[in-house]
Amino acid sequence: MADMDDLREGVNFGLGQASQLDNFHIKGASNLGWGMKDRLSRIFNPKTGRSVMLAFDHGFIMGPTSGLERIDLNIVPLTEYADCLMCTRGILQSTIPANVNKPVCLRADAGTTILTELNRNVVIDIEDAIRFNVSAMAVMVAAGDGEMEAITISNLTRTADLGNRYGIPVMGVTAVGKQMARDSRYFSLASRVCAENGATIVKTYYCDGFEKVAASCPVPIVIAGGKKLPEKEALELCYNAINDGAAGVDMGRNVFQSEAPAAMIQAIHAVVHNNLTPDQGYEMFLDLSK
Ligand code: 5RP
Repeated sequence: MADMDDLREGVNFGLGQASQLDNFHIKGASNLGWGMKDRLSRIFNPKTGRSVMLAFDHGFIMGPTSGLERIDLNIVPLTEYADCLMCTRGILQSTIPANVNKPVCLRADAGTTILTELNRNVVIDIEDAIRFNVSAMAVMVAAGDGEMEAITISNLTRTADLGNRYGIPVMGVTAVGKQMARDSRYFSLASRVCAENGATIVKTYYCDGFEKVAASCPVPIVIAGGKKLPEKEALELCYNAINDGAAGVDMGRNVFQSEAPAAMIQAIHAVVHNNLTPDQGYEMFLDLSK
């Protein structure tokens, strides 16, 4: 381990300067192989470099939470508006028609429910990811959690090793445990740790100073939406995240718990891909909700 004495916080993030290494439309992907690039290009639109991922994996820890009681009724009609679907293999196999023809980011770890403490110690079999023809696998990293940090980093590393073997990207999902700070220092560290351990996409949270989180992460960041917000605030969150360097969103509750989920995901799509302002996005949401 490096000497921790005089460990200095980063100050020079080169904000506003594009990465000097990228000639591919996805940050940090220039040196990857064809299969990886193809799968990443299914997730991140080659024209905009951005993505609207629809997350509905919540049931694997929460059970049938509000908006996800009936995936066939609540989520399948939204899939046409998403660039990528993030879910578990159980829902994919049982409920998502294979002809929706959308890239899938498969939730690849498990190990706990909301009834107990944070714990992820199971990673699904790579053969299932291949069988489902997924475009990425998602694994959580609990940086800063004394019990789970090493296990979850090991999950990510193992998954990245397997993903590298078969050309399947891995998305590192930064956890937000009860005792963890939710600031740019924490999210920068957690995001960078994911990338350094092999993640080719990072999912984290928007925060003050997010531009430093995005600038110091060498792979694209998508943001989670978190708890349900009023629609205009959720659109502001998307707009600010993109403006501050995110390559997209991976949102769940702010879509499927919206009063008008189909209108909401289309408005988010327009903010992310077409640079609509939050006001314009909200107007679009209201129009489509009629
Ligand atoms: C949790 C996840 C969820 O998919 C994520 O939190 C996205 O959902 P939401 O926008 O509802 O927060 O990755 O580990």
